[in-house]
Amino acid sequence: MDSTPTRIPIGAILLLLLFLRHPYLSIADTIYRPVDLFSINCGSSTNLSTPDGRNWTGDTNFLSQSHNSVAATPLTPSTQQPPYTSARLSHSQFTYSFSLSAGPKFLRLFFYSSSYPTFDRPKAYFSVKANQYTLLQHFNASINADADDNHDDTLFREYCINLNNGDEELNITFTPSTTDSYAFINGIEIVSMPPYLYYTNSNVDTGLLPQLVGGSATYTIQNYSALQTMYRLRAGDAEIPSSSDTGMLRTWDVDNKYVTSQSVESLDIATGIKLRFTNKTPNYTAPDQVYRSVRSMGRNGTINTRFNLTWQFPIDYGFLYLLRLHFCELNPKVHNPGDLRFYIFIQDQMAEEWGDVLLWSDKQKGVPVARDYVVQIPTNHNKPNLSLKMHPHPLSLIQDATVNGIELFKINGSAGNLAGPNPDLPPQIPNVPLQSSKKKSGGTVAAVAGGVVSGVVLISAIVALILIKRKKGSNKKDGGVKSSLPTNLCRHFSIAEIRAATNNFDDLFLVGVGGFGNVYKGYIDDDSTRVAVKRLKPGSRQGVQEFMNEIEMLSQLRHLHLVSLIGYCYENNEMILVYDFMDRGTLRDHLYDTDNPPLSWKERLQICIGAARGLHYLHTGANHMIIHRDVKSSNILLDEKLVSKVSDFGLSRIGPTGSSVTHVSTQVKGSIGYLDPEYYLRQRLTEKSDVYSFGVVLLEVLSGRQPLIRTVEKQQVSLVDWAKKLYEKGSVGEIVDPALTGQIAAQCLSKFCEVALSCLHEDGTQRPSMKDVVGILEFILQLQDSVVNGVNVSGGNYMDTDDMFSTSHSSVYASDYSNSSGLNTTSNHSHVSKESDRLMPDNVLS
Ligand SMILES: *[C@@H]1O[C@H](CO)[C@@H](O)[C@H](O)[C@H]1NC(C)=O
Ligand SMILES: *[C@@H]1O[C@H](CO)[C@@H](O)[C@H](O)[C@H]1NC(C)=O
Ligand SMILES: *[C@@H]1O[C@H](CO)[C@@H](O)[C@H](O)[C@H]1NC(C)=O
Ligand SMILES: *[C@@H]1O[C@H](CO)[C@@H](O)[C@H](O)[C@H]1NC(C)=O
Ligand SMILES: *[C@@H]1O[C@H](CO)[C@@H](O)[C@H](O)[C@H]1NC(C)=O
Ligand SMILES: *[C@@H]1O[C@H](CO)[C@@H](O)[C@H](O)[C@H]1NC(C)=O
Ligand SMILES: *[C@@H]1O[C@H](CO)[C@@H](O)[C@H](O)[C@H]1NC(C)=O
Ligand SMILES: *[C@@H]1O[C@H](CO)[C@@H](O)[C@H](O)[C@H]1NC(C)=O
Ligand SMILES: *[C@@H]1O[C@H](CO)[C@@H](O)[C@H](O)[C@H]1NC(C)=O
Ligand SMILES: *[C@@H]1O[C@H](CO)[C@@H](O)[C@H](O)[C@H]1NC(C)=O
Repeated sequence: MDSTPTRIPIGAILLLLLFLRHPYLSIADTIYRPVDLFSINCGSSTNLSTPDGRNWTGDTNFLSQSHNSVAATPLTPSTQQPPYTSARLSHSQFTYSFSLSAGPKFLRLFFYSSSYPTFDRPKAYFSVKANQYTLLQHFNASINADADDNHDDTLFREYCINLNNGDEELNITFTPSTTDSYAFINGIEIVSMPPYLYYTNSNVDTGLLPQLVGGSATYTIQNYSALQTMYRLRAGDAEIPSSSDTGMLRTWDVDNKYVTSQSVESLDIATGIKLRFTNKTPNYTAPDQVYRSVRSMGRNGTINTRFNLTWQFPIDYGFLYLLRLHFCELNPKVHNPGDLRFYIFIQDQMAEEWGDVLLWSDKQKGVPVARDYVVQIPTNHNKPNLSLKMHPHPLSLIQDATVNGIELFKINGSAGNLAGPNPDLPPQIPNVPLQSSKKKSGGTVAAVAGGVVSGVVLISAIVALILIKRKKGSNKKDGGVKSSLPTNLCRHFSIAEIRAATNNFDDLFLVGVGGFGNVYKGYIDDDSTRVAVKRLKPGSRQGVQEFMNEIEMLSQLRHLHLVSLIGYCYENNEMILVYDFMDRGTLRDHLYDTDNPPLSWKERLQICIGAARGLHYLHTGANHMIIHRDVKSSNILLDEKLVSKVSDFGLSRIGPTGSSVTHVSTQVKGSIGYLDPEYYLRQRLTEKSDVYSFGVVLLEVLSGRQPLIRTVEKQQVSLVDWAKKLYEKGSVGEIVDPALTGQIAAQCLSKFCEVALSCLHEDGTQRPSMKDVVGILEFILQLQDSVVNGVNVSGGNYMDTDDMFSTSHSSVYASDYSNSSGLNTTSNHSHVSKESDRLMPDNVLS
């Protein structure tokens, strides 16, 4: 292993950091002292301080005279701090005015999307202008809050605006968009920044000006431009709070939500090296911590040449963007320029052919540098992503690429506009009647689906729908966190035992990476037993709840088709679960984006039957009905004999218990692509939501593709929609995994599709129970066996396609069967499976 003593995975030293009360966490705001600093708690008249280092004052002194606004507190008070505890609201225009000094300012807006007395949540619909700049246009607060992935209904926007000499007043105007809508605001913050932090100093040499991507020109951020902060990120797994910024109260979020390739994050604890800031990169540019943690490709040089270190950032189209990358060379193996050299691609265009941090920092280690790029995102896409990719230069001594921090800003367009569209409504809810009972869905579904035109599937869009939630105070209903762990039910491990088992969480033992944390292979009991060690990300409150939940659920359940929990470790802030090791990994790893050989049709059927039995047991076998809530192919594990086991009970809930109750209301959780539409639209959780997700798994198994692929043509983006359409047309053969050619008897195909699509029925009550699903799948397996044995087979298991389909009495056609290629899955050859689509706030640090 070529790890170096000073660069180790962040997780491994978090404990150490907690112990030492790390010195970086409190370098005060003394680096930069803002001339203007206003933190306004709108709708309040008291002054108070919050732990994030802010001193809030009331808003009345700043409100212009003629207004009809009212101050109110939210009807659903959140657990949030001020400024989210009070708001200023109005059905007519109102303005705040601030007298400031000249120069650039941060303007921050804080919203808490809730209902307020006489102001309904969905009716907040308004525009916000600051002097000549339009910050928000017809802004639908509720839909933005629902789409936001912080899941707590708060919205935060940050802008940079420059005030010219003689024009040192900032007017912020809120205007409702329609007669029955209203405008509101919970908090406003204005903080001065150094003149050339983001605005270009035209006196500097052109080498430091922002580079226009896709040409050799430079771009100047003029002082009449306004910017909107889209992302401010650091490599590392904990955000840097506003109180630890260099004095401007900026928050530095973690970048790992946006990393779409393999990568590692590590912390340079080369504390001996003091960072040396320069005139080019002054000490207020970013906090020390940003430069001390770094994201890189991994440890293995050979593997690194095969992929790009990649980030994807959802943005609005039709604007110029300023991308700032922060670097600092602290790697002890780098001695000379050229030792670590890389390419940078932005929007797949070469932005840097000679990326070399040591060169940029005048051959000095520990000198932070920031590089700026400007890129145009044209208007011809729907909600696009801005991509950043890095790749080692072939001549580089060390085959790697690194970055420490990323900031991304939108630059105002014509007439000072910065506003983008509201998030898209979700993709069309399937309305296809599948069975003879052609009952249309209820009014709510139709109404939501009615307005939908866009077929483009985006995370934000789906999240928008999912988060129609009323989570306030629902924790108790929601399954509950027990304060004590069941020590008698399963084994307790010490952290020392776990470290020994995994060679101190060695990357070489890593077998999976997910939103929750990492999974390692480990050896216990004198290396006699192999186990899977799931290490949850520390510090997350969400995590604690799921951790307890999983232990509680699993320690009470034993079944051949449920993964077995061996024990747990809950020590020093570590939350670790220890399971039986499953040799063959996840079902997903055998279906697509994989180097594993394809599973045969019979193997697939047996795996589905096993998983269905596991779910059936969950639904009916234990004392209470248990609803898994996160059924998907990556939660079905396979042992060495391909026996399937349902895993990951972090989200599971005890189902309805009283006889009068038919469902549980809960905050919607689950994974994109597998969520029951009835559940996320109505928040009605029943065991039939698992049946729906299992239907998606059946289609994955049949097609060998993932449920959502955003890069294929529109009709094929959603596997479920596509399958339903093909089934209606009678050409469901098109969907079959090419690797299964000739293996599926026609009746089996048709029965299999029938059961899959019946699981996917919109109306939960029309879906079969898991018991029925087990029965039908077993029948299909028998049918397959009998057909195979009854037909004159030439060439082993493989059968001639036409023969297979000619026996069909169903409406399944074979015609398009053979050319079902062209599935444009983006393959990821990493040896660890990345699971980024789970709808969990990965980084909820309290
Ligand atoms: C930041 O840099 C300025 C200018 O070089 C210097 O005067 C100041 O002391 C530095 N502040 C800290 C906290 O290092
Ligand atoms: C609140 O703070 C502002 C600004 O610091 C100050 O002018 C005002 O007197 C304070 N009000 C109260 C009630 O303390
Ligand atoms: C808030 O007030 C406290 C006490 O007056 C002060 O020490 C601190 O610097 C203030 N914070 C900010 C961000 O101004
Ligand atoms: C702000 O509003 C005041 C009062 O309406 C007006 O006199 C002033 O010109 C405005 N300032 C700017 C910069 O728009
Ligand atoms: C804003 O979004 C909500 C959904 O959160 C919707 O009910 C409402 O109609 C939207 N308002 C407008 C004016 O589009
Ligand atoms: C903005 O730039 C113009 C010319 O480039 C200059 O005259 C003006 O003083 C600048 N304003 C500020 C506040 O720096
Ligand atoms: C867009 O970015 C998001 C967030 O990084 C990512 O999950 C998604 O896969 C990206 N989409 C595409 C098409 O790259
Ligand atoms: C590095 O990659 C090579 C080629 O893929 C592989 O043979 C080797 O085992 C890898 N080494 C480590 C330490 O992962
Ligand atoms: C990295 O991204 C660039 C730009 O899109 C592309 O040309 C190149 O082929 C990619 N390299 C790898 C190994 O994927
Ligand atoms: C940004 O807004 C200013 C002020 O309205 C305008 O002069 C400038 O042209 C705008 N920038 C772009 C790129 O359109």
